[in-house]
Amino acid sequence: MEPYILGIESSCDDTSVAVIHGNKILANVTANQHIHRAYGGVVPELASRAHQQNIVPVVNAALEEAKLTPDQLSAIGFTSGPGLLGSLLVGTSFAKSMALSLGIPLIDVNHMQAHILAHFIEHAAMQPPAFPFLCLTISGGHTQLVRVDDFFTYQVIGETIDDAAGEAFDKAAKIMGLPYPGGPLIDKYAQLGNAETFSFAKSRVAGYDYSFSGLKTSILYFLQKKVRENPDFVKENLYDLCASIQHTIADMLFEKLEQAAAHLRIKHIAIAGGVSANSEIRLRLKAKTDWHTYIPAFEFCTDNGAMIAMAAYYHYRKGYEASLNTVASARMSVEQSKDKPFS
Ligand code: KG4
Ligand code: ZN
Repeated sequence: MEPYILGIESSCDDTSVAVIHGNKILANVTANQHIHRAYGGVVPELASRAHQQNIVPVVNAALEEAKLTPDQLSAIGFTSGPGLLGSLLVGTSFAKSMALSLGIPLIDVNHMQAHILAHFIEHAAMQPPAFPFLCLTISGGHTQLVRVDDFFTYQVIGETIDDAAGEAFDKAAKIMGLPYPGGPLIDKYAQLGNAETFSFAKSRVAGYDYSFSGLKTSILYFLQKKVRENPDFVKENLYDLCASIQHTIADMLFEKLEQAAAHLRIKHIAIAGGVSANSEIRLRLKAKTDWHTYIPAFEFCTDNGAMIAMAAYYHYRKGYEASLNTVASARMSVEQSKDKPFS
């Protein structure tokens, strides 16, 4: 019989809990933390405090939605890293207590693997990728090109050497005076603008690595100059600015993705992570008719408990169980599960 797994995600500013049966989602409940908006970015101390407040109600809501009682669960999965340590500790401690009290396996999950494994959630709008595939994981904390050979074998082909793609969106938005997180707003306004209006410097980095910090500086200097000439410049050009910035980020992402796919001769290409919710990136990937492309449903792009439960499911099936001494870590490579002891 397929297991019932509860997955807990608390690596950043979303407390999200899902219950799955096999690879079917029974519930996926998320509490977003709006408190960070006032600060223009995630404040780690406030994030861990909000996780403490949210975790019990969100777990209860997920179980209620799944119409299950805790004693029906087969295992508890939780994000053990990478992420903000204080935030991770809330989910880790809660997951340990719950697994211990129910006498069921505890499964630590790598957040970056979970973003990729979200593709295997059973969903009408999604087809699971065929192995090997190349996944462009683009989030607020990471930008990576990962070769995925099976559920447990990941190889980083390239990654950002400074800012992540999500940070590039959020920092550009902040420069324009938009609230955090700015990525979804840039996407929304870009749909009303012309992407050819402004051009920004694209950093050149060797191999398949990325660099986005130069773009932020280029936007900052450009806008400082324009605002000196006309204080209403951003307001008057917001849609074109958003479209041009989004287009530049998408160009940078696709350039390396195309080169890596050609070099590795992989035609199965997936995107994952919060920035994969971006409409231009989704459209550009869909337009690649020479590739088999895999785009997650919106609800599985940004951080969610379902992807954690899904990753836990594949480890559970292999007989893996974490020790109660497992610790959360702020840094953790997506390649890490090679070292897990499967029974
Ligand atoms: O994966 P995620 O939810 O959290 C991390 O693990 O970081 O990604 C959050 C990032 C933020 O930077 C947010 O601005 C960005 O994803 N994001 C978007 C869009 N939706 C979320 N960026 C561009 N366009 C979007 N539609
Ligand atoms: Zn994430």
